[in-house]
Amino acid sequence: MSLPSVNLPDAAHLQLAVCDYPEHVPQDRWKDYARQQKALGLSYVRIAEFAWALMEPTEGQYEWAWLDQAIADIAAAGLKVVLCTPTATPPAWLTRTYPETMPYDHEGRLREFGSRRHYDFASPVYREHSRRITRAMAERYGAHPAVAGWQTDNEFGCHDTARSWGGASAAAFPGWLQARYGDVQALNEAWGNAFWSMDYQSWDQIRPPNLLITDVNPSHLLDFYRFASDTVKSFQEEQVAILRELSPGRFVTHNFMIFESGFDHYEVAKGLDFVSWDNYPTGMLEHFSGWGSDDIKTRYARTGHPDFISFQHDLYRGLLHRPIWVMEQQCGQVNWAPYNPLPADGAVQLWTAQAWAHGTDVVSYFRWRAATMAQEVMHSGLLRHEETPDRGFAEVQALDLNQFPSGAVTAKVALLHDYESLWLYDVQKHAASLSYWAQTVSYYAALRGLGQDVDIVHPDSDLSGYAVIVAPALTLMTPERAAHLEEAAAHARVVFGPRSAYRTVSGRTPEDGQPGVLAGLLGSKLLNFDSLRPGLSVRVEGPDHAVDVTTWAESYRLNPAARNGAEAVYSYSDGPQQGQAAVVRHGNVTVIGAHSEELIRTVLAGELKAAGLKAELLPEGVRLSRRAGKTLVQNWNQAEVTYAGQKLAPVSFVVKND
Ligand code: GAL
Repeated sequence: MSLPSVNLPDAAHLQLAVCDYPEHVPQDRWKDYARQQKALGLSYVRIAEFAWALMEPTEGQYEWAWLDQAIADIAAAGLKVVLCTPTATPPAWLTRTYPETMPYDHEGRLREFGSRRHYDFASPVYREHSRRITRAMAERYGAHPAVAGWQTDNEFGCHDTARSWGGASAAAFPGWLQARYGDVQALNEAWGNAFWSMDYQSWDQIRPPNLLITDVNPSHLLDFYRFASDTVKSFQEEQVAILRELSPGRFVTHNFMIFESGFDHYEVAKGLDFVSWDNYPTGMLEHFSGWGSDDIKTRYARTGHPDFISFQHDLYRGLLHRPIWVMEQQCGQVNWAPYNPLPADGAVQLWTAQAWAHGTDVVSYFRWRAATMAQEVMHSGLLRHEETPDRGFAEVQALDLNQFPSGAVTAKVALLHDYESLWLYDVQKHAASLSYWAQTVSYYAALRGLGQDVDIVHPDSDLSGYAVIVAPALTLMTPERAAHLEEAAAHARVVFGPRSAYRTVSGRTPEDGQPGVLAGLLGSKLLNFDSLRPGLSVRVEGPDHAVDVTTWAESYRLNPAARNGAEAVYSYSDGPQQGQAAVVRHGNVTVIGAHSEELIRTVLAGELKAAGLKAELLPEGVRLSRRAGKTLVQNWNQAEVTYAGQKLAPVSFVVKND
């Protein structure tokens, strides 16, 4: 599919923006706020994503005067507007008049009005209202000279809302399955319903896979997740089509959310001009339980962890292979994590510089003034509640944007990621402390710690430009995907993590055992897998050292006929798999079957070197990123460090010419 053109004015360097809520403050502040925003060096103001009830206080009756004025004030100050469709917050009249638009949680409970995102993507009635409000906004503002572009909705999937487990979604799910399988016997076969007598005789017997007595059939779950993902995609497509028709030349984007897993981002990004995401570094580290020890969480509490943040930048840049925006950038403390520390001095600048170096063209701070009402009064903005500049304001003011030129990020290392593998990986974890994201971030962090720039890309995308390709958790495998990876391996070194190719497209295991169609490429087959509870470990021995393995350990039988002569690089030296291969190399393809940060780093370092890349183990908290002929050197430690002969102040960066 060809991408639409990017409706974005070119800028020579990074631009800044802010999220603002004119509806939260008296109108007599608006002009002043816009003037201050301009004076701070901002270029865009994003507004209106939660303002539906003000635009349409009763059904079919629109109130545009306030929004006309807000846009006029922003435009008069010389700023551009990013307008949002307000569908993340259906008004009370809508929810109460049309209760069939409401979503259900996994426990089968109705999710009530009173916060946000209380709608079911599959509801035909909600779809109609979504199209109607989008059209009404686009008719009024689509050609407004100050409107630069649009954001659809707000953070699809936030608060676990990509999937509704009853109501309209439950009604639509069987039809989606019928379109996919045609014949209910084909579905029974694909899902393996002979197990536990789960065969269906007709489509109308099928429900979402919740409220079950015990474990869910992964194939049933996978298809429900696919259905929900397709539903998010088509919901957005309806809005995008209207915006394209009525707002020509303006960009359309969506602000994706950190570690959101409820839909396939590659699919939902198609048809957008560029991807945006919302970056909350301290909240993200504190909130996310899958990766990072307590030590890491404490050490980086005031900055967030560099790899955790850049992972998201690289993932979102890879959705369309284009520069991105950070639509919401933390600029003070957040309110939604278990602990919400003040960011360190310098953190706002560090985040901004990092965003630029990982391919961001616009950083938009969240939010202008701290909210004085409702759910987010404990959340900071650039201005305090009392309207004086808060700590982040001064950091934004002091930024020299000329040091952040526009241009490409060119990485020689690709990390493969796909949402269907994620869904399958986590449905039967088998080891409680294992997760798809944790596994993937471990490999990514190892690469970043070795000084690499990394593109995070879909496994079926063009892999031709990369020297090293790393697939940490590619559980779903098809014959086409295996053939594509074989082609890629002809010109790159390829590294797979454990649980590779464990599942076919329907979520079953291959009939000839794992890794099924990938066995030729790996030169080996899976023997056993071992799940290690905290405190239980096994040891692997390799060429020059031995390491302890925790969480996961799988072993392989080498294929003696493998065309490149498969060899065991590391083998288990104790435990039930003693003597069996833990890491196998087959020509330029390696599979790492055991989890150990040291093992991952060591194997990856060897592969990077073998590919002719410089692999330098960076000091803790020091990171390098390259863009547009510059290298960003960052110190994320709250202490001075010396790197390459240069002293770096705590929480600081320098930009160097390559
Ligand atoms: C984001 C959301 C914003 C605001 C922010 C607070 O997830 O898009 O509306 O709630 O979090 O950090």
